[in-house]
Amino acid sequence: MTTTRNRVEILHGVNFDVLDRRDPEVYGDLSLTELEVQIKRWARELDLEPRFFQTNSEAEFVEYLHRLPDLADATLINAGAWTHYSRAIADALELAHTLAVEVHLSDVESREEWRRHSVFEGLVLAKISGKGPDGYREALELIAAELGAAG
Ligand code: DQA
Repeated sequence: MTTTRNRVEILHGVNFDVLDRRDPEVYGDLSLTELEVQIKRWARELDLEPRFFQTNSEAEFVEYLHRLPDLADATLINAGAWTHYSRAIADALELAHTLAVEVHLSDVESREEWRRHSVFEGLVLAKISGKGPDGYREALELIAAELGAAG
């Protein structure tokens, strides 16, 4: 399948730059770079064109989301802890009007209570959590199917 609507932004939020220093029992042992290499391979297999962005600055994240309409046909977002409280990021994602899928490496439903809430509820096509890196592949498959369906 080849489509001109195939640009996918892979967005990581706060603390993902130090993914390889976080608890491996919860987050696995990949660095962000290693995770991105894996995601890139899966994306290419699906004829998607991935682009990556990570920041620890909420303001930078919001400003990046403001530019999304020019950059992307779809968004895969793992905003880390911002997921659970940043209405500012949710508002900016809503403004972007792109197809979006939320991913978490860990199973946010079975951890602390506060991690169950996501500000992206209602804004994303799906929320995938607890599947480690494979969750990203599932998200990319969903995105490819949706973009393909949209032609
Ligand atoms: C996370 C889950 C969040 O609750 C946490 O704050 C993170 C990572 C995940 O990928 O499992 O930073 O988004």
